[in-house]
Amino acid sequence: MAEQGGLIKGLEGVVAAATALCDLDGAGGRLAYRGYDIADLARQATYEEVAYLLWRGELPTRAQLDGFGAELVAARPLPDALLSAFRLLPKKADPMRALQMAAAVLGTFDPDATDNSQEANLRKALRLTSQLATAVCSHHRIRLDKEPVPPSKDLGHAANFLFMLTGERPSAVNVRAFDASLILYAEHEMNASTFTTRVIASTLSDMHSAVVGGIGAIKGPLHGGAGEAVMLTLKEIGKVENVDAFVEKAFAEKRRLMGFGHRVYRAGDPRAAILRGLAEDACRQSGQQMWFEMAVKLFERVNRAKGLIPNVDFYSAPLWYSIGIPVDLFTPVIVAGRIAGWTAHLLEQYQDNRLIRPRGQYTGPGRRQFVPLEKR
Ligand SMILES: CC(C)(COP(=O)(O)OP(=O)(O)OC[C@H]1O[C@@H](n2cnc3c(N)ncnc32)[C@H](O)[C@@H]1OP(=O)(O)O)[C@@H](O)C(=O)NCCC(=O)NCCS
Repeated sequence: MAEQGGLIKGLEGVVAAATALCDLDGAGGRLAYRGYDIADLARQATYEEVAYLLWRGELPTRAQLDGFGAELVAARPLPDALLSAFRLLPKKADPMRALQMAAAVLGTFDPDATDNSQEANLRKALRLTSQLATAVCSHHRIRLDKEPVPPSKDLGHAANFLFMLTGERPSAVNVRAFDASLILYAEHEMNASTFTTRVIASTLSDMHSAVVGGIGAIKGPLHGGAGEAVMLTLKEIGKVENVDAFVEKAFAEKRRLMGFGHRVYRAGDPRAAILRGLAEDACRQSGQQMWFEMAVKLFERVNRAKGLIPNVDFYSAPLWYSIGIPVDLFTPVIVAGRIAGWTAHLLEQYQDNRLIRPRGQYTGPGRRQFVPLEKR
C-alpha cells in the first residue's frame, strides 16, 4: 500500500462505506452479490433477477419477477426530447458523452427527480436501468443516421438491448451470453465509479446527478474504458502469429496492457474466468475464433512474463465483438450493466448517509506575505 504520513495514495485498501451488496474476496478470487456466487447468478439468473436482488435484498419469486419485469418494460421508452437531443449532437460524439447527457436529461423529466426517499429512489433506479439501455441503442442508431428501434414489450432486458441495437431479434445463445455478461458487470463493491456516485449522493444531491458522475468516472481507460482498449489491442495485433512480437515490443516500451491487472484481485478475477468460457463459445458460434485464440495467447504470454492477471474487461471484449456490439459501445454497455449496482449503492448511501469529505495532505509553500499586483 502506498502510504506516506497518513496519505494513502489512490485510497488503496481504505474501507469507505459499509455495504451489504458485494462480497469481494480479492485474495481468494471470489465474488458474491448478497451472498450468491456470481458464477451461479451468471449461469442461472437473468439481469432482471439480479437487479431485484441488489435493490431489494432477496431474489424475486416468480410473481414478484413478473410484476418487476413489467415495470422495467413500461419504463423503456425515452422522452422524445432526449431523442431530439441525440439528433443535435455531432455524429462523431463519443457515446459515453451522449450517455452522460442522457442521464442528465432523464433527470429533468423524472417525476421523482429531487425526491431522495427510498421509495422514490427505487422507482428512479428502475427507470434509469431501463432508460439508459434504450439511450445507448437509440443514440447509436441516430449517429448512424438510422431510426431508433422502439423497445420491445415482450423481450427480456438483455434480448431487448440487442434488439434495439440491431432491429433484429437476437439468437437465444447470444442473449444468454449477453445477459450473463451484464450480470457480471452489475456490481463490484467500491470501484472508482461506484465510489464517485456515493460521494455525489453523500452531499444529498439526487440519483440522476450521481449517475452522471458515475458515467464520467467509468469512462476512463483504467476503469470501464479498458474493454474497448482490449479490443483495439487485439485488432492492432491482427493475428495470432503476431502476439509474441507484440508482447515483446509492449514490454520494451513499458506499455500498460489493457484488460490486465486489478487493484483488489491478486490471484485472479473470477468474472474473467466465466467470461473466458462465454467468449470462447461466442467466438466459435460466430466463426470468429481468431479473437479468442489471440486473447488466450496474449494472456499466456503476459501472465507468464509478468504474472499479470486478466480482469473482467479482457474476455468481455472478444465476447461482445463476436456478438456484434460495436467497439465504442463496450463502455456504454458496461454502464448498462453497472447501473443496477450504482443505484443499489445509492439506496444504501441515502439510507445511512454521512457527507464523504476526506482531507488532503498539503505540500505547497508555507505561509507568506501577500504582494500587491503593482509590486510583483
Ligand atoms: C487496474 C489497474 C489500474 C490497477 O492498478 P493499481 O492497483 O493502481 O496498480 P498500479 O497501477 O500501481 O500497478 C502496479 C504494478 O503493476 C504494473 N501493472 C499493473 N497493471 C498493468 C498492466 N495492465 N500492464 C502493465 N503493467 C501493469 C504497473 O506497471 C506497476 O508496476 P511497477 O510497480 O513496476 O511500477 C491496473 O492494473 C491497470 O492499469 N490495468 C489496465 C487497465 C484495466 O484493465 N483496467 C480495468 C480494471 S477492471
